[in-house]
Amino acid sequence: MTVTNASPEIKSILYLNGVTKSFDGFKAINNLSLDIAPGELRAIIGPNGAGKSTMMDIITGKTKPDKGEVRFKDNIDLTRHDEADIANMGIGRKFQKPTVIESLSVWENLDLALAGNRNVWQTLFFKLKKAQHERIDEIMTLIGLSEKRDALAKNLSHGQKQWLEIGMLIIQEPEVLLVDEPAGGMTDYETMETARLLKEISEHHSVIVVEHDMDFVRALDCRVTVLHEGSVLAEGSLDKVSSNQQVIEVYLGR
Ligand SMILES: Nc1ncnc2c1ncn2[C@@H]1O[C@H](COP(=O)(O)OP(=O)(O)O)[C@@H](O)[C@H]1O
Ligand SMILES: [Mg+2]
Repeated sequence: MTVTNASPEIKSILYLNGVTKSFDGFKAINNLSLDIAPGELRAIIGPNGAGKSTMMDIITGKTKPDKGEVRFKDNIDLTRHDEADIANMGIGRKFQKPTVIESLSVWENLDLALAGNRNVWQTLFFKLKKAQHERIDEIMTLIGLSEKRDALAKNLSHGQKQWLEIGMLIIQEPEVLLVDEPAGGMTDYETMETARLLKEISEHHSVIVVEHDMDFVRALDCRVTVLHEGSVLAEGSLDKVSSNQQVIEVYLGR
């Protein structure tokens, strides 16, 4: 494989370098760089309008950057691919609002999500079907909804719906999972359970999570990136970034 000299030797699963994106002349993302390792759990924090969601839009192909590099594992240039391609390549995204099918049960929602990866031949073989059932059971255990397998999604709590949707993404085995403000509207208990769930998921997938709730970010116990005006203001442990004077001024101190 030939690697152009502007690109990194691949040790990252996701690599952004010098990314800029303007909307009507306003730089929502401004020379942004980010480097995520395989299997890493990373929290992204920063004030409203810092560019957190736009960053996720750029990674997932929803928004094209004006300039800069956006690369995925074996040097795949994500700016050359559309949203559907990028999802198929293994970058899953959880939006704020759950998109589970309310009239279906927990099990049926997971089965449907798994079916997205199923081909005609696989459905013909009983053994693979059995493996699929086991996979659904495994995911229900992971998201803590085994006892709710036949409950309709509409009867789940807000937090349980969010976990179901995370399960529906994980069952498709993405290499990278992006999660935008999962704790919004959750109870304290659900928030802490969500942190535990994402930590467990990060044992097998890279996870990038945007969140404002500092108790949640502390529970994630991972490297934190602070975004401000479309760039990285600080990066490191939560203790390190929360004692950074600039971070206090633009974000924490407000
Ligand atoms: N599609 C868009 N058109 C115009 N402006 C946008 C668009 N998307 C985001 N912005 C602007 O970009 C800035 C960053 O927004 P966003 O990425 O949503 O921030 P965050 O998620 O950190 O709150 C904001 O000023 C927002 O108004
Ligand atoms: Mg946002």
